Amino acid sequence: MSILTSARLRFEPMQDAHYEGLRVLNGDPAVMRFISGQPETPDETRAAIARVKARWETPGYSWWSLIERASGELIGAGCIQHLEQSASNPHEIGWRLRPDRWGRGYAIEAAGRMARFAFDDLNAPLLCAICDPANTPSRRVMEKLGMTCRGDEVWHGKTVAAYAIDRSGWAQRAGAASE
Ligand SMILES: CC(C)(COP(=O)(O)OP(=O)(O)OC[C@H]1O[C@@H](n2cnc3c(N)ncnc32)[C@H](O)[C@@H]1OP(=O)(O)O)[C@@H](O)C(=O)NCCC(=O)NCCS
Repeated sequence: MSILTSARLRFEPMQDAHYEGLRVLNGDPAVMRFISGQPETPDETRAAIARVKARWETPGYSWWSLIERASGELIGAGCIQHLEQSASNPHEIGWRLRPDRWGRGYAIEAAGRMARFAFDDLNAPLLCAICDPANTPSRRVMEKLGMTCRGDEVWHGKTVAAYAIDRSGWAQRAGAASE
């Protein structure tokens, strides 16, 4: 299973030991406002961890807990998965942070590392991201990642803003970033 690191974060595949940190994260109405609209219950958090653990077995990637290296605290979560969990759909990247860590650049830091995992380790041809059209902070992360808005699309039965970046777009961005 892939533990990743970035300058300030460690990405640990979700596991039972993360329950308390994930309960606080996913139980926060501000975090869930544009995701499901309601905070997750403790039982839902336990069930989500079980589902994610299974996905780390097959297909072998899923959600990481984001651990702040300086404090050791679980301050967010991020994922690479297939849209609607179907291998026939493109890969999707996602993120969420505890509100006391918003505005520090952690989301774009995590997004960049997870996108590199998708393109370099999984050889993904295309990486997508979706969000509630009103979720401006998430759209900003997508734009900073170099993604292009494809417009509104329907996923999970909801109209969402859809963004994408392909391998050549990523290679150009990665090249530009290292100059
Ligand atoms: C979406 C979400 C993760 C974005 O978080 P965020 O804190 O706005 O994004 P970042 O961590 O990349 O931080 C960006 C901000 O930090 C600032 N910043 C401070 N230090 C920084 C640094 N070292 N590097 C980069 N940016 C930095 C930037 O200026 C930027 O502010 P701006 O957008 O006003 O210019 C957050 O709003 C969230 O968790 N929302 C709830 C869950 C959710 O909706 N998830 C997405 C579902 S699709």
